[in-house]
Amino acid sequence: MNILILGSGGREHSLAWAVLQNPKCDKLIVAPGNAGIAQIAECAALDIENGGAVVSFAHDNSIDFIIVGPEAPLAAGVADRLREAGMLVFGPSAAAAKLEASKSFTKEICDAANAPTAAYGHFTDADSAKAYVREQGAPIVVKADGLAAGKGVIVAMDEQTALDAIDDMFGGAFGGAGAEVVIEEFMEGEEASFFVLCDGETVLPIGTAQDHKRVGEGDTGPNTGGMGAYSPAPVLTDEIAQIALDQIVQPTVDEMARRGTPYQGVLYVGLMIKDGQPRLVEYNVRFGDPECQVLMMRLGAQAMDLMHAAAEGRLADAQVNWADDHAVTVVMAAKGYPGSYEKGSVINGLEALPETSFEMCFHAGTSESTGQVIATGGRVLNATARGATLQEARDRAYAMIDTIDWPDGFCRRDIGWRALGG
Ligand code: AMP
Ligand code: GLY
Repeated sequence: MNILILGSGGREHSLAWAVLQNPKCDKLIVAPGNAGIAQIAECAALDIENGGAVVSFAHDNSIDFIIVGPEAPLAAGVADRLREAGMLVFGPSAAAAKLEASKSFTKEICDAANAPTAAYGHFTDADSAKAYVREQGAPIVVKADGLAAGKGVIVAMDEQTALDAIDDMFGGAFGGAGAEVVIEEFMEGEEASFFVLCDGETVLPIGTAQDHKRVGEGDTGPNTGGMGAYSPAPVLTDEIAQIALDQIVQPTVDEMARRGTPYQGVLYVGLMIKDGQPRLVEYNVRFGDPECQVLMMRLGAQAMDLMHAAAEGRLADAQVNWADDHAVTVVMAAKGYPGSYEKGSVINGLEALPETSFEMCFHAGTSESTGQVIATGGRVLNATARGATLQEARDRAYAMIDTIDWPDGFCRRDIGWRALGG
């Protein structure tokens, strides 16, 4: 099979790495890719949010199967264009991608599906949003309705912060994404992510993970896209996962099918868990980054068969073969991230890193320049490892980190601390 993966981050590097282990893959192209991906697959420059361009590229390169990594092409309807052109694609339609692209849409689906989630209000003007905040009091959560690159959520511990966030959002701080806001009850508990594949009807769980969103050790400081992750998430027990499937995920997938917009792809189910009960925080319509890296490390070659089965509507017959193992990924980011940071610093030591089915350093934001790997993003490398225990996986990941010679980078040294008991 000739396969095309769309995207350029650590998520896509790990997808490419897993796909290449599957003997069914004859040729792999990643567009646009990065310096790490270029070491294992062909990379091609392509505007991945332009459906017409992606269709032509896939056609010209005799592609049999397309895997869409990030949310933006999905929200832009790239999977629709590919399917209209008769191509096999893993990823939801634009209509189904609204589960990530619109927070009010997700809330409406939860209402229809009777899925447990935070109580909320949906507003199109600042005055009524503020009146709702004054009535509910703090803590309270203010969310821009649309895609805001992970930045459109303000967890306000006091009323003034919430009122200011409303002004910012309606003032255009998040562009069109903030033209409508959702205001939610603040949920307490421990967060974990549940990943399932869907083929429109059937739901197949493929793993759990927890990420560390804050930049600082002990989960402090500003929010990031994720400074590390581990799988499985101990808080998401089999029992809680089953409740989430029965009360949240399957009713959502059923409701999407009932509306004529069936969900096909991976559904990232963000949960808040308290007293054994999960509630939905958010859906994402793609793999998490860096959560994908730990899932791919654990699933290996079967990941491609599972995504293929989802795209072909064959999940009812598919099965995941679990190894009873653990995986950890530690993100190395450019100093200054998530604030401003320099681009272009040279990274050394990468050639000394092991590349095995237990250890892999995925590239998230790198380019090649005159034979050297340089940092070109905020999150730059993902040292990813698996082991029989979380501790073993973590030790392997940090051994990789200690081999990397990149003075302009930093990482958190405490990835997995909650699961390891502090
Ligand atoms: P979201 O983009 O919706 O995942 O929100 C980003 C982060 O904000 C989540 O991962 C949570 O940590 C936090 N968050 C979002 N909604 C709530 C809520 N209703 N209660 C508490 N925390 C929340
Ligand atoms: N790591 C969080 C995300 O991918 O949204």
